[in-house]
Amino acid sequence: MDLFEYQARDIFEKHGVPVLGGVVATTPQEAREGAEKLGGGTVVVKAQVKTGGRGKAGGVKLAHSPQEAEERASEILGMDIKGHTVHRVMIAAGAKIAQEFYFSVLLDRANRSYLAMASVEGGMEIEQLAVERPEALAKIEVNPNVGIDAAKALEIAEAAGFADDIKDQIVDTFQKLWTVYSEEDATLVEVNPLVLTEDGKIVALDGKVSLDENAGFRHPDHEALEDKAAADPLEAKAKENDLNYVKLDGQVGIIGNGAGLVMSTLDVVAYAGENHGGVKPANFLDIGGGASAAVMAAGLDVILNDPQVKSVFVNVFGGITACDEVANGIVKALEILGDAATKPLVVRLDGNNVEEGRAILTAANHPLVTLAETMDGGADKAAELANA
Ligand SMILES: Nc1ncnc2c1ncn2[C@@H]1O[C@H](COP(=O)(O)OP(=O)(O)O)[C@@H](O)[C@H]1O
Ligand SMILES: [Mg+2]
Repeated sequence: MDLFEYQARDIFEKHGVPVLGGVVATTPQEAREGAEKLGGGTVVVKAQVKTGGRGKAGGVKLAHSPQEAEERASEILGMDIKGHTVHRVMIAAGAKIAQEFYFSVLLDRANRSYLAMASVEGGMEIEQLAVERPEALAKIEVNPNVGIDAAKALEIAEAAGFADDIKDQIVDTFQKLWTVYSEEDATLVEVNPLVLTEDGKIVALDGKVSLDENAGFRHPDHEALEDKAAADPLEAKAKENDLNYVKLDGQVGIIGNGAGLVMSTLDVVAYAGENHGGVKPANFLDIGGGASAAVMAAGLDVILNDPQVKSVFVNVFGGITACDEVANGIVKALEILGDAATKPLVVRLDGNNVEEGRAILTAANHPLVTLAETMDGGADKAAELANA
């Protein structure tokens, strides 16, 4: 889950990372009040959208008075930045910047490790710098078992070439940003720019934080950070039911058990779809090992509520759960859904108790259900029905 800048700012503050005052506003009037709250001096009005390059897009503007903050906010609110509409701005205290630096720490999946990056040439051109002069961006591996302690922070600061007179502050700030990363279970903490102010202080002026949702159970407070308004309504509904669901753009709804089986089902359906008008999978949905009637009903309910879905392919391998239980789950789910079940279902069962499972579905003889013998056959049938 990616956070807005103002949320990252709050988390930084909680862990002692030096930040400036910031107030969120959703109207120009609130922006004026925010600027007054910050003392009435110079502020920066910043678009709160989950994309970079806001400065270049005109979404970060200086205001010398609360009146000007109101005017800048009315310009920025409603703006479109790379497809993101600005619904909020942050009024941030204005910093007198002497120098802009870059710092990030992230999950380096390829190396199964963490990676810290830092540069004394931070600011809005960092992407260009990384491409044109990669040597100006220090990259230091961080051992997950040790993290960024004082020694590691110093190593990063020296590799990036930070000046001696600010090294103590920089080392301290890197360690605090590491605390944010590890204690909040983040996968990315990026500060661009981390600045040196004219009066010699290090301050994080921008913050990008991604949190690992798999660690959500350790952080009940993270739920409040979710942007519920922006979430896909079907994904939100699935989440309420603890389902692993990702909305895709096709017409064949998919239900399977186990992430690997569901991934290959997506491939097989996309392949079969080529012979049926180019239909594609409509979603990823892994109902997990249990596959009880309630879970099956919740999954079907989410998928059938997707207006793009024309058919559903249920592809279950009975491993932990036997096929007869799954078949009973499907029959009960269809009972629970009643008239809400309106689209044809192709069901392929295999594995433990497959004969019993098929017998249950055959006996139920539900008009919407077609049994398939194989995964390929089921995918083909589901694609055909979606294209009918
Ligand atoms: N509080 C602030 N005070 C002064 N200048 C700022 C402030 N916040 C941002 N800036 C300036 O605006 C630039 C862009 O802002 P930033 O928050 O980094 O947005 P983005 O990365 O989306 O362009 C920064 O590089 C910095 O020069
Ligand atoms: Mg930035």
